[in-house]
Amino acid sequence: MAAASERTLILFKPDAVQRRLCGRILQRFEEKGLTIVGMKLMKISRELAEQHYAAHKGKGFYAGLVSFMTSAPVVAIVLEGPYAIDTCRKLMGATFGFKAEPGTIRGDFGISNQYNLVHGSDSKEAAEREVALFFQRGELLENKTADAALHLAE
Ligand code: RTP
Ligand code: MG
Repeated sequence: MAAASERTLILFKPDAVQRRLCGRILQRFEEKGLTIVGMKLMKISRELAEQHYAAHKGKGFYAGLVSFMTSAPVVAIVLEGPYAIDTCRKLMGATFGFKAEPGTIRGDFGISNQYNLVHGSDSKEAAEREVALFFQRGELLENKTADAALHLAE
């Protein structure tokens, strides 16, 4: 079966940056075989946080989530690879650190519900929308690594 290449938006949340875990978390994605096509340190505005998490508007944790995500810098990354969206969600683990399996990023580095280190797009539609929210077209590079074709082969 030929694999489909996808792009997904990953955020290292403020807790990951504050705890200096960016390198270790990025390593999980890189060693799996995903390729960086965009990456930057940024402070998220309230407006952007509200747009990004619009699906959660009205939920009890929404105000706290927006305030957490805008409290300090995040690292925004676009990763590319076979089934990148689902692959990244698996590497991240379940939403809450105390439920996430050991071996996953959230399972290994945290135990909190909200401070769960990393965001990853959860569908093709979300990935497209979120990548466009965080990156201008010119900020994303074609970055075909030597092994990219092998990863997608029949
Ligand atoms: P994310 O969007 O950040 O990748 O996380 P997710 O899909 O695994 O989880 P989602 O349901 O989309 O929730 C978004 C973020 O809101 C915070 N949260 N807190 N206190 C709570 O009950 C609660 N529920 C969700 C987490 O930071 C979660 O990642
Ligand atoms: Mg989500």
